[in-house]
Amino acid sequence: MNADSLSKGLKTKIIGKKLFFFDQTDSTNNQAKIISEQNSIIEGTTIVTARQTAGKGTDDNIWISGKDNLTFSVIFKNDNKVTTLFPLYPAVALTKTLRKKYHIAAHVKWPNDVLIGNKKIAGILCEGMVSKYMIVGIGININETTFPASLEKIATSMQIEKQKPFLLEEVFQYFLLEYENLLFGSFDIRQEWLDNTLMIGKQITAFLNGKEQKVTVTGISKEGFLQIKTNEGHTESWMARRGLDIKTDY
Ligand code: BTN
Repeated sequence: MNADSLSKGLKTKIIGKKLFFFDQTDSTNNQAKIISEQNSIIEGTTIVTARQTAGKGTDDNIWISGKDNLTFSVIFKNDNKVTTLFPLYPAVALTKTLRKKYHIAAHVKWPNDVLIGNKKIAGILCEGMVSKYMIVGIGININETTFPASLEKIATSMQIEKQKPFLLEEVFQYFLLEYENLLFGSFDIRQEWLDNTLMIGKQITAFLNGKEQKVTVTGISKEGFLQIKTNEGHTESWMARRGLDIKTDY
């Protein structure tokens, strides 16, 4: 994988047109931040690496990645498209890519995890600088055949699902095109999210700062907040935030 193989055949007009490739970096989100701080922002600039040495996950978790995993970050201007719905787009775009192009039964878990069954195939980390830039970091498990014991029950890859390897560049290009069409097209992202999730009507276990609660998902609001009903019958609307962790078992 290199800058040429990633760019050749890419059909997007914005995302990935400006592309940086690193053989190795600490975190593509960190690189994207450095690039955004030092230059004027070019919408859709994409940073890809073959090996991340300090990949970041949500809530200060680490994201393990290597040659079998596609890891990249996209820089966006922090303008009026960056609303509370913005983090939903990459997850819906990846779910649609996996479903349409690879016939993998992916679904989104609020707000932006992509699962197969109950296992995670991708993680998304949005980090931004108010009124300047927004970085969307994406890690997709593609050709892993095994995971460390601690992840075995919660992680999967395209190869594990389909019993064959995939071209990282092809997944990258299909995904970027789907993402660009969704983000810059005139889609109702809330409806798209609903069409690509299995959460509605399901019971979930939510951990808010460690406190466990079982609730039923009733929908998402126009802001992208998770609407739930507690066992006592109260309805609430939850914003995605640090310390809120959701477990599904369907
Ligand atoms: C999660 O915990 O689910 C989010 C994981 C996000 C991982 C990606 S890999 C590319 C980008 N660079 C990082 O350091 N993290 C994100």
